[in-house]
Amino acid sequence: MGEIDLSADDAHQVFDRMQMLKAFDETKAGVKGLTDSGLLKIPTIFVRPPDELAEESTYKKTQIQVSVIDLSEIKNSDRRKNIVEEVRIAAETWGFFQVVNHGIPRTVLDGMIDGIREFNEQNIEEKKKYYTRDIKRMVRYHSNFDLFSSKTANWRDTLSISISDQIHPQELPASCRESTLEYSKHVSILGNTLLELLSEALGLKSDHLNKILECSKGHLISSHYYPQCPEPDLTLGTTQHSDPGFLTILLQNEIGGLQVLYQDQWVDIEPSLGGLVINIADLLQLVSNGKFVSNKHRVVANRIGPRISVASFFSGPVREVKVYGPIKELISDENPAKYRDVILSDYLLKFLNTGLDENLGLDYYKL
Ligand code: OGA
Ligand code: NI
Repeated sequence: MGEIDLSADDAHQVFDRMQMLKAFDETKAGVKGLTDSGLLKIPTIFVRPPDELAEESTYKKTQIQVSVIDLSEIKNSDRRKNIVEEVRIAAETWGFFQVVNHGIPRTVLDGMIDGIREFNEQNIEEKKKYYTRDIKRMVRYHSNFDLFSSKTANWRDTLSISISDQIHPQELPASCRESTLEYSKHVSILGNTLLELLSEALGLKSDHLNKILECSKGHLISSHYYPQCPEPDLTLGTTQHSDPGFLTILLQNEIGGLQVLYQDQWVDIEPSLGGLVINIADLLQLVSNGKFVSNKHRVVANRIGPRISVASFFSGPVREVKVYGPIKELISDENPAKYRDVILSDYLLKFLNTGLDENLGLDYYKL
């Protein structure tokens, strides 16, 4: 067990693949650089293995949709009870829902998308300055964070910005500086609000997730740019995965492609004008002792593009040593802890250092 037995042929292929990955990475131009060159076939590093491609035909088209929750009357206590109930049901079943009337103005959402478009479509030399795989950097632009650890590369480029007290505005790329700072202010408020609703849905005091567990302390904004793809059926925009932190708020433009795995089917999450997609991430599943679910999702590639999405990850105090386990109030003799304790930074680092297609996620911490 565990031994790798490579034939000479296999060894050649592994070597060739590594050379191709390196060459691609060294262009620092991402997938956008490939599409700009006008290619008609996608390079083999992006092509999914035959068994995975064959599996696609076993999925049926379905019309079901995640629920859309209207947050407009959240301050009205009767209405709030209903909203908490809707949030609870969605968090326990799909782990996904959309929100509308969430308080972030359309101009701020549109500004964020436009800024990301501008960053990706600007002069390549300017963009290259931010290209890095160093996770200590607050601003990181690259294609596929797991390029060298995954089996298949994804048709996607990403700009990640860690938002905390430590970041100076001048560190942000000029093309998306104002828009990101503005969006970040709003998304941080919405993150707090959602974590209050989720606390209430767990039967806890509304500040439990924010104050005691510090789930919304800082956030990471990862903005993805999915260029048009000449052979969308052979690759993916994002391999299936669950998010490692507590909660994710996702803004997407009108192209679509996000799918959630629900009852063994891939269900499209249709872009909704002005709406935002919310999903429960692994550590919220862990602290809720499995009451809330962190569901697998992915992004399919598309012949048209670019698709732009902005994921805001709320992952708690990522730079501190903090341990998380199932919340004491939620466990009892009848309902014992389902997970071991985990050190936050260990969990997040493991996610970053493992390819999306190899990640075990919470399974590793199951009791
Ligand atoms: C992610 C993610 C989905 C999207 O960044 O974790 O799942 O629509 N993104 O880009
Ligand atoms: Ni995700």
